[in-house]
Amino acid sequence: MSRRSGGIPEPTVKSGWEKVPPRTSLTPRLDLGVFELLDEMRWTKLNTVMMRAAIEMANLGKGKTHPNPAVGAVIARGARVVAKGYHRRAGLPHAEIEALKSAGGRARGADLYVTLEPCNHYGKTPPCTEAIISSGIRRVFVATRDPNPLVNGKGIRHLRRVGIEVRVGLLAEEAMAVNETYFTYMRRGSPFVTLKIAQTIDGMIGVKSGESKWITSHSARAMARRLRSEAQALLVGIGTVLMDDPLLLPIPRRKSHYLRCILDSHLRLPLNSRIVRSAESYQTVVYCVNAPTVKRKRLERAGVVVKVVGHTGDGRVDINDVIGDLASQQVMHLIVEGGASTLSSFLKLQLFDRLILFVAPKIIGSLNGLNSFAELMVGDLERCYRVRFTDIRRIGGDIMIEVRREK
Ligand SMILES: NC(=O)c1ccc[n+]([C@@H]2O[C@H](COP(=O)([O-])OP(=O)(O)OC[C@H]3O[C@@H](n4cnc5c(N)ncnc54)[C@H](OP(=O)(O)O)[C@@H]3O)[C@@H](O)[C@H]2O)c1
Repeated sequence: MSRRSGGIPEPTVKSGWEKVPPRTSLTPRLDLGVFELLDEMRWTKLNTVMMRAAIEMANLGKGKTHPNPAVGAVIARGARVVAKGYHRRAGLPHAEIEALKSAGGRARGADLYVTLEPCNHYGKTPPCTEAIISSGIRRVFVATRDPNPLVNGKGIRHLRRVGIEVRVGLLAEEAMAVNETYFTYMRRGSPFVTLKIAQTIDGMIGVKSGESKWITSHSARAMARRLRSEAQALLVGIGTVLMDDPLLLPIPRRKSHYLRCILDSHLRLPLNSRIVRSAESYQTVVYCVNAPTVKRKRLERAGVVVKVVGHTGDGRVDINDVIGDLASQQVMHLIVEGGASTLSSFLKLQLFDRLILFVAPKIIGSLNGLNSFAELMVGDLERCYRVRFTDIRRIGGDIMIEVRREK
């Protein structure tokens, strides 16, 4: 059960999919303590403008760099931007290298603004610190340290050791937001979990007889599929597969670093389902507690990976084991799309970081409706599950509500 929350802040209703206006360094920050406030005053307006440009560059790579974080870099001489770069994909040059290459000799004596600490080790590419040193960069502004134990502080220390001025913490919160799932995975060792629900305003995800297509508008569904493209795994319960026969693919479609996962205690997954028929092309894992040999072999022959995991008291798949398995496969962001039993299990275990609700202006009523969290039974208001609103937007004719778990 989650802890009691404080007051729920008033949500901001925005129309469309526009960005939140960026906060300038001069905007008073009532949510910051005095030390953080002093820290913010260390930066000049120019520093802030440059780092914000680097964050914009980082956003260009968001969702495309797995298992690496999305990083942006700007090289500037005073108020003049000399070069920009961002990390496009794992294996391709890091943001700093892109910017340094494009700056060439103009990097000498200039400032580098980078959204994440430069690496100091050999991975798929050589260390960025060496390239920075040999380029003659004078100062380095780093928004945040890299929580990856291979880097964490080492890149900053190395640059300082050779006499480069390194300043850390400029727009740290904004820079971390670009890589929220990466930071969560690195610090906690398990994926960032998003629960996604399409429901009516009275909280129904379908009718009990099974029909649920489509509750929300085309725009909301398109956005939900784009959301899938930021994750490395998507999970549903077998009830949803049996009822809807979904494909569970992102837009744009992607084969690598994208796992379709099904909770299916007794391998009921039909061989002729669309998921199984597409399993040769798109990675598919079924988590079960009991795998009858013949069915298992047939599914495996069709390309499905069958994993037997532990079970709960009522004989269903133990979700903690599923999360552990996904973590071991470097899944940093998992999206759970239902149905009601699956969502209830994740909520009961408090195994989520964020809940995204697409709410359609429709009403079904509880006599024949299937509630989003149908398996929860809260006896009194004191004991209800609590979350906090973090975003509300209008998407076509629907509303998107984002809430976070109380920590
Ligand atoms: N509007 C939406 O956003 C949305 C999204 C998805 C689905 N839906 C609708 O939701 C309905 C299906 O919901 P549902 O609640 O019946 O099914 P579900 O949540 O998709 O699947 C539930 C089944 O998953 C299996 N399971 C295994 N381990 C589990 C665990 N730890 N926790 C929970 N389930 C576990 C169980 O079957 P076994 O015991 O056999 O393993 C359980 O009966 C459909 O009508 C679908 O259209 C709506």
